[in-house]
Amino acid sequence: MSIVDRLKIADRKCPHPMLAQANHDELAHEQYALSLKLALGRTFAPGNRKVFEEKAAPAFAKQHGHPPATVHDVRDAMKDQPYHQLVSALQVAAQRIMWDAVGISIERELPRLEETAGQSRQSNRKRGSLMLNPDVAMPAYIGHIDIHLHPNGYEENAHDDDVLAGALYESGGNLYSRGVAIGKHDSKAACMIGFLEETYPDLKPKRIIDLGCSAGSATVPFAEAWPAAEVTGIDIGGGMLRYAHARAEALGFPVHFEQMNTTQTRFPDNHFDLVVSHNLFHELTAADNEGALKECFRIVKPGGVVAHLDLPFKNAEKDLFEQYQGDFQTLNNAEPCWRVYTNMDHAAALARAGFARDRITTTYRARKDGPGAWLIFAAQK
Ligand SMILES: C[S@@+](CC[C@H](N)C(=O)[O-])C[C@H]1O[C@@H](n2cnc3c(N)ncnc32)[C@H](O)[C@@H]1O
Repeated sequence: MSIVDRLKIADRKCPHPMLAQANHDELAHEQYALSLKLALGRTFAPGNRKVFEEKAAPAFAKQHGHPPATVHDVRDAMKDQPYHQLVSALQVAAQRIMWDAVGISIERELPRLEETAGQSRQSNRKRGSLMLNPDVAMPAYIGHIDIHLHPNGYEENAHDDDVLAGALYESGGNLYSRGVAIGKHDSKAACMIGFLEETYPDLKPKRIIDLGCSAGSATVPFAEAWPAAEVTGIDIGGGMLRYAHARAEALGFPVHFEQMNTTQTRFPDNHFDLVVSHNLFHELTAADNEGALKECFRIVKPGGVVAHLDLPFKNAEKDLFEQYQGDFQTLNNAEPCWRVYTNMDHAAALARAGFARDRITTTYRARKDGPGAWLIFAAQK
């Protein structure tokens, strides 16, 4: 049996004591948010293209003497269209309703979650570790912006027991994914581990690091997949990591969580056999995207593997209107770096970081359930 088929916890529905338990009414509220998002995404948002082609583009051409030629032209053409205005406003409202919905059970459960996390930090039987570093500077694109309207953002870390950022990230993230039609069980880690097994059959990593690990959902499966390996997860957010550590301990896996900037880690050169990330790169500025890849090249051993999984959206493969729809993320969903990532040439970026061209792979991998795929860009040093 392959490693990925043996994994028990690489499932997004994997239960554990750090998950807030929603009661009947809270679940109904979450279900409402989910239904609203799915209805907008499946039924109403597609109508924007018809509005563009039949109304907005002809009106733009009449006014300017040429059809919309850039995404800025598309934005200009669409901004006064009432249907587009209404659907966009509802999409933003649905995103806020989603966070409010998961926030109700988390707020009610927060004292229990903080206590459970505190106990796991103090336990003599803990398997992994947590190292927070208040001196790590918060980049402006995290500290000043609540990415995808996540309340108080990834940086939330109000006191020494704070686990709110992680709790919101895990519960909200699960609902968020289902709201864009990704299935209940989809697992980024399982997708990545399946890719690694197939692409690098000789890989037997002893040291593994997951960059931008958030709540640790994609980190812990690496400790299950390679039980003899030392697994580390790093993130910029302290509250995020406190939750991730408690979650990993509750699941019974040894993972070391540390607060660090992914562009500047404390690890020596050639330290890791495997460096991974999941959904990190679409949230980095151009400078940090380049910096993170250079850091990956520095900390991975010769023969070791660097592999990043992220959104399968590339502007080079999209028409102008799809690119404009992608930019909705920046315009209305507080995703400041969307365009940097969607314009990225993944293979060229890995090559600039130092990897040999013939050792670079970029591929799409189908999701476990739900439509679509993840994009993986990887290289062996
Ligand atoms: C979209 S989340 C990724 C979640 C997680 N890997 C998963 O798939 O479940 C991005 C995470 O990267 C972290 N992050 C963003 N920029 C970072 C940086 N420069 N250094 C370290 N962490 C960073 C954020 O705090 C956030 O938790």
